[in-house]
Amino acid sequence: MSRTSLTRFLIEEEQNKRINADLRQLVAVVARACTSIAIAVSKGALGGVLGDAGTGNVQGEAQKKLDVISNEILLEANAWGGHLAACASEEMDHSQPVPSEYPQGDFLLLFDPLDGSSNIDVNVSVGTIFSVLRAPAGVKQPGDEHFLQPGVQQVAAGYCIYGPSTMLVLTVGHGTHAFTLDRETGAFILTQRNMQVPADTKEFAINMSNQRHWEAPMQGYVADLLAGKEGSRGKDFNMRWIASMVADVHRILTRGGIFIYPWDKKDPGKAGKLRLMYEANPMALLVEQAGGAATNGRERILDLQPTQLHQRVPVFLGSKNEVAQATRYHTDHDAN
Ligand code: AHG
Ligand code: MN
Ligand code: MN
Repeated sequence: MSRTSLTRFLIEEEQNKRINADLRQLVAVVARACTSIAIAVSKGALGGVLGDAGTGNVQGEAQKKLDVISNEILLEANAWGGHLAACASEEMDHSQPVPSEYPQGDFLLLFDPLDGSSNIDVNVSVGTIFSVLRAPAGVKQPGDEHFLQPGVQQVAAGYCIYGPSTMLVLTVGHGTHAFTLDRETGAFILTQRNMQVPADTKEFAINMSNQRHWEAPMQGYVADLLAGKEGSRGKDFNMRWIASMVADVHRILTRGGIFIYPWDKKDPGKAGKLRLMYEANPMALLVEQAGGAATNGRERILDLQPTQLHQRVPVFLGSKNEVAQATRYHTDHDAN
């Protein structure tokens, strides 16, 4: 049986006019950087890569050594590619244009270099999330404002999960496809074409410890899930929470479910925990391209007009009918 590598898949996408050569190379460079991150992550304590870096990021979060290492790997891999105009990252206050002495390209790359990094010291799956936008025409040396495009304008999005196996899950706007890293050859091999999220589910993912901080429609929705067969939903639900968005979303893309990180009043100034530009938007595109849905509880995530590079957003994503249910609790509440 002939195997389809990521390289071949991307060339075929280019032949089918779904991507151009620059975007093909950009995705290949990101995949190569993820392979390097996978190696660093898998060394664990032997590589001296665990623990805190002793620094903080712009969001006031303590950085892990691997947050910093992964960010540097992605920046370095992309610097000389010639396909990028600028990069932005969870771990950098502002976007960085590709220096003018380097080869320039048309794309903007955003990433969460290491998602779920609080799990790294306990040997639980973590990942890298990325999103690709086009630099506005005629803009040389783009700044933060040029990244503020709604998620529907993403030309590619994906994540790499560093778990028992390393997998890259990718969309260029024509379905969501999964590739597994063959560690012997270093190639990503297509292992699932056109992933499909089942429309209905009995599984939800949420950090229940925040329950008392949620708004009324969230309280109502989750109370009905917990009531199970005896409640208005008429079925029992199961709960899973890995606390690595990449791992939770990977489960949902594989077997369905709903993932929720709602707004809560712990810190009313923040619109939820997750970031729109490099967590919610790429995941929303991947999930929609697999037949699922993603909202902020009220509106489609991909339609939101960003106002800040690091802005946060409530997230409800996964099985289409369940996301519609959860969203209805919020919109019905607002209407009354
Ligand atoms: P990051 O490690 O990039 O800061 O993201 C962590 C996110 C996400 O991966 C996860 O779903 C969520 O934070 C976990 O939140 P809790 O700490 O509330 O469980
Ligand atoms: Mn993250
Ligand atoms: Mn992160």
